Amino acid sequence: MDYKELIQKTEDFMISEFRGEGSGHDWFHIDRVRKMALNLGGQEGCDLFIVEMAALLHDLDDWKLVQAETHFPSRAEKWLVEMNLEQDVVSKIIQIIEDVSFKGAGVETPVRSLEAAVVQDADRLDAMGAIGIARTFAYGGNKKRQIYDPAVNPVMHEDFHAYQTSSAPTINHFYEKLLLLKDRMNTETAKTIAIGRHQYMEFYLTQFFEEWEANR
Ligand code: ADP
Ligand code: NI
Repeated sequence: MDYKELIQKTEDFMISEFRGEGSGHDWFHIDRVRKMALNLGGQEGCDLFIVEMAALLHDLDDWKLVQAETHFPSRAEKWLVEMNLEQDVVSKIIQIIEDVSFKGAGVETPVRSLEAAVVQDADRLDAMGAIGIARTFAYGGNKKRQIYDPAVNPVMHEDFHAYQTSSAPTINHFYEKLLLLKDRMNTETAKTIAIGRHQYMEFYLTQFFEEWEANR
């Protein structure tokens, strides 16, 4: 199979897995991340096959979406092996997927390759701005979280476990993740895009709290 066919097969697989997903991780999220990652990766001189495969598969084994305990090898790895990719290519792609995810407000998430840097930036940009706001409330509703509770303050998670076990209202997620992302971008292009999306979220939150307080 050539690269084009491999991408097409992986795309079809991800569409079948994620179409209609209701927590903001639907196929269109994956497709936006893929396109943004290719765009950033082109500017950074990345291996674009690796970037595209990792972007397509990045949420397949995400702990937020998969109920089961961590299973080895991951479904992404199984898929890549089934596609007859060489072991070093499989390892590179799996390493990116491991690096990408946000793991808590106070937890660093260093990337081990330029390809991981652009996929992480692309995934994080999709958590910001108007689409990021929509995804966040979709996720909160899907997990039966409250929209906002003034009695529950945002926290700085000290480790991944604290982040994973949080059940805070959705507005807190802006302070615990979304507003931190602007300063955690890897590439210059992503930093510039993040500034606009960050401002939009701040504007949204100002309006949210003005309305909340309107009749007090
Ligand atoms: P990451 O792997 O970095 O978490 P994802 O692609 O899995 O990135 O998407 C994360 C998105 O899921 C967040 O940006 C947000 O929209 C939603 N999300 C995750 N955790 C929460 C939460 N506690 N409250 C609300 N939304 C959340
Ligand atoms: Ni994602």
